Amino acid sequence: MIQKIVVVGAGTMGHGIAEVAALSGFRVGVIDVSWDFLNRAKDRIKESVVRLYEKGQLKEKAEDILARIEFNTSYDIAKDADFAIEAVPENLELKKKVFTTLDEIAPPHAILATNTSSIPISDIAEATKRKEKVIGMHFFNPPVIMKLVEVIPSKYTSEDVTNITVDLAKKMNKIPVRLKYEIPGFVSNRIFIRLLQEACREVESGEETIEEVDSAARNKLKLPMGLFELADYVGLDVVVDIWNVLTTRGTPDVKCSMYRNKVNEKNLGVKTGKGFYSYPSPGKYSKVQLPNESKTDPAKLISLAVNEASWMIENQIVNAKDVDTVMIYGFNFPKGLLEMADELGLDNIYKYLKEIYAKGYEAYKPTSILEKMVNERKLGKKTGEGFYKY
Ligand code: CAA
Repeated sequence: MIQKIVVVGAGTMGHGIAEVAALSGFRVGVIDVSWDFLNRAKDRIKESVVRLYEKGQLKEKAEDILARIEFNTSYDIAKDADFAIEAVPENLELKKKVFTTLDEIAPPHAILATNTSSIPISDIAEATKRKEKVIGMHFFNPPVIMKLVEVIPSKYTSEDVTNITVDLAKKMNKIPVRLKYEIPGFVSNRIFIRLLQEACREVESGEETIEEVDSAARNKLKLPMGLFELADYVGLDVVVDIWNVLTTRGTPDVKCSMYRNKVNEKNLGVKTGKGFYSYPSPGKYSKVQLPNESKTDPAKLISLAVNEASWMIENQIVNAKDVDTVMIYGFNFPKGLLEMADELGLDNIYKYLKEIYAKGYEAYKPTSILEKMVNERKLGKKTGEGFYKY
């Protein structure tokens, strides 16, 4: 039975995951390299728990929840851990070091999870002598608010460990989506990057402006944030890291340099106070102002992401419902991506894919299942069947 969870890395994701674990009744240990990071995490957790308490969303007192969390720069607090979640920066060598240390210190039964959004879980597992007990447990920012957890078994992970992790995600009041097997970027980030790639292509080709794309995302698709705004929120360095992992591991690229340019300028988004938009101060997000009107067609904006989703369905990694669960609970979409596609018309989506593919963008080549659906007049809501039946 899992009683104590240790989180390694007290940054944006780590402190939030630790908070979620404590809110769900677990004893928690947080480890980081300096007391500066740990104290900052302590303050952020306290502020968030107090906010939830004041809104009447907690059954316990804020102090009781906070008292369950211990902080330390030493891995000694992992000695009695049943489960560890690593959330350090996205660097394989660093992650390997963390896993080797956890493997030495945590008890033999402990499962070691990584919150990586881009590094292959199998590569991380190879740093330990318990490869079958290493798994991906991917949370979303902000972890306290976002309900989704992707559970990603590597080629070494045992079925038991996957089941325990799915169960733990539920105990943490999250909605788990379990991937059949590991693919670069998992489900979430493959779709996320495809949305950002099309957004970027539209702007760089002069079809739309950043504000027009973001206005369409917010006002037409009803997403909580514009796409460039979301990229700023996640961190443009993180975006570029995930993008690189996808393209170096076989996903067709979309040539576009806007995100990379911002990173080169050291404007990383909310965390540095400036990205595509400006924010009140580094680390402080506030909603950006956008025009109400825009000429951007939402069917074009989601076309590449829908193609990517249909590729994952074709390869039996997940089904349409899973894709939609990921987007609703991981990105706060008001409805699933494929529900949106069905509403906007698969013939429309297909038309854009063909058009852009004809301009030389390999990634837009419609998948065979999408082509088949269009040929069979399964065009979505208007014909009674698309990704779903109506
Ligand atoms: N602790 C407690 N409560 C919090 C909180 C925190 N850390 N952060 C926000 N909240 C609460 C606020 O108090 C507020 O509550 P009420 O509605 O009761 O007042 C609510 O959450 C909404 O927050 P705000 O009013 O401050 O701001 P908002 O309405 O603009 O929403 C948002 C902010 C929830 C972040 C929303 O914009 C959103 O859902 N954006 C999309 C986020 C997203 O897509 N995340 C995934 C990124 S991808 C990723 O993480 C994975 C990866 O690998 C890259």
